[in-house]
Order: sequence, then structure tokens, then C-alpha cells
Amino acid sequence: MTNWTEIDEIAKQWVKEAGARIRQSMQESLTIETKSNPNDLVTNIDKETERFFIDRIQGTFPGHRILGEEGQGDKLRSLDGIVWIIDPIDGTMNFVHQKRHFAISIGIFEDGKGKIGLIYDVMQDELYHAFSGKGAYLNDTPLAPLKEASIEEAIIAINATWVTENRRIDPSILAPLVKRVRGTRSYGSAALELASVATGRIDAYITMRLAPWDYAAGCVLLNEVGGIYTTTDGEPFTFLENHSVLAGNPAIHKIIFGDYLHADR
Ligand code: IPD
Ligand code: CA
Ligand code: CA
Repeated sequence: MTNWTEIDEIAKQWVKEAGARIRQSMQESLTIETKSNPNDLVTNIDKETERFFIDRIQGTFPGHRILGEEGQGDKLRSLDGIVWIIDPIDGTMNFVHQKRHFAISIGIFEDGKGKIGLIYDVMQDELYHAFSGKGAYLNDTPLAPLKEASIEEAIIAINATWVTENRRIDPSILAPLVKRVRGTRSYGSAALELASVATGRIDAYITMRLAPWDYAAGCVLLNEVGGIYTTTDGEPFTFLENHSVLAGNPAIHKIIFGDYLHADR
């Protein structure tokens, strides 16, 4: 029998420890490289933090598998068994340029279902944590179920690169949405944006092409507070592939999908 309470306790401990190491590393100089394009950054700390988790998971739970952004984990074609989906630093651009607003994001899944979600805002020392069926927390404070919200009073997080790059959806369909809502934000960390939806600080998040390590932990949080997440086509997530994401309060998700994204096709 899997001891989920043990996994949960150890995972929280490791996330805090890794966060402390990242804060410590701020004193040292970073090695910064680029990946798919000149703005897709990775540092030695991203890689070292992923390695930190892999070494501990393999040493403590040898049967578990790991899907990590920096590719030092397993090459997975399925989510059978227990899988840790890890983004060692989500918001690397913020980490490099701003030294804040980045997070460690870890979703722990069993046979494709989210069991534990951990998003650690390293510089704020804020741990968003969810355990399937047992609620979501910000540090020790339980997160309330999301309340009904109106679109006119909504704040939505939206990635501005959408305006220039999106080939799937005509960017002009978002203009009336941006006009209708109370305000828009862009934080630069998908994990923190999803955590913000789970806390009700923002009412929806729309973005392109997130990878499983960007959205896995956030989805476990959203499950616990009644948040809704789909691809921008309204499809469920696979947790193995990249998706364009619409996550939000149920009422706001319904309006954005029905009146804007779906209306586009
Ligand atoms: C990125 C951030 C960013 C999102 C990108 C992600 P990274 O993750 O979450 O907010 O817009 O799509 O790739 O590269 O900093 O881990
Ligand atoms: Ca990421
Ligand atoms: Ca990352």
C-alpha cells in the first residue's frame, strides 16, 4: 500500500529545502544558457534543483518515475504508477531578471490522477499545497472554495505574447474580453498564475503552450477549490503533452470559453 501521507510530508520538506538552496544561490553568480529560443532561459540552478529532487526521489522511492523539465528524469510515454512532474524553477526569466516571482512546481500523480500539488513561491516563502480530497492550503491556511464571480469584476491573467504569436486563435477575439473584464495581469510564472486562480486572487488564466510541469501542480490545487481547467479548445489535459490553457473560476471559465474562445470556431 502506498503511504501517501509519508510522500506528502517528505515532498513538502524537500521543496522547502530546495527553496532554501535557491535563496542561498542568489549570492553566487549564475550560469545562464538559452534553450529553444533566445528568451527561453535555463540556469545552473534550474538543473541543480531538478537533480536535487531526482536524487532524493530515486533514493527514497525507487519505484516512482520522474518527468522533469530539464530532462534529467525519465522519458515517459504514460503516467502509469506514481509519477513526479517537476518544474524546478517555473519563471526562470523572473528568477534571472527580477530575483523574485518564481516557484518550484511539483505535481505527484498516480495512474494519471493528481494526488499532491506543491507550488513554492521561493522568495515569499509561500507554499501552495493540495492533497487530493483533503483540500488546498497556502502555508497552513486552507483555501476556500471558489465563489461565483462576474466577468465585469474579473481580473484575468493573460500572456501578452499571445497578441503576436498565436497561430491557433485570432488574437483580435481577445480584445473585447480584455475590454470587458476589470483588469489583466501577467506574472511570468504559470505555476504562480494557476495558484493565484486557486486562491481567487485572479479569476482566470489564459495562456499558450504550457508543458505538463507548468500546469500539473496547479491543476491539483484547482481540483480542491472547484476551479476548472481545459485546453483553449475545451478539451481535458493529458498531463503528458503541451496545451494552450484556460483555467479559472467555473463561471468565468464558462464565459471566456463560450463567448470568446469557442465563438471563434
Ligand atoms: C515558463 C513560465 C511562463 C510561461 C511559459 C513557461 P519556465 O516556464 O511559466 O510564465 O508563460 O510558457 O514556459 O520556462 O520559466 O519554467
Ligand atoms: Ca515552467
Ligand atoms: Ca522551468
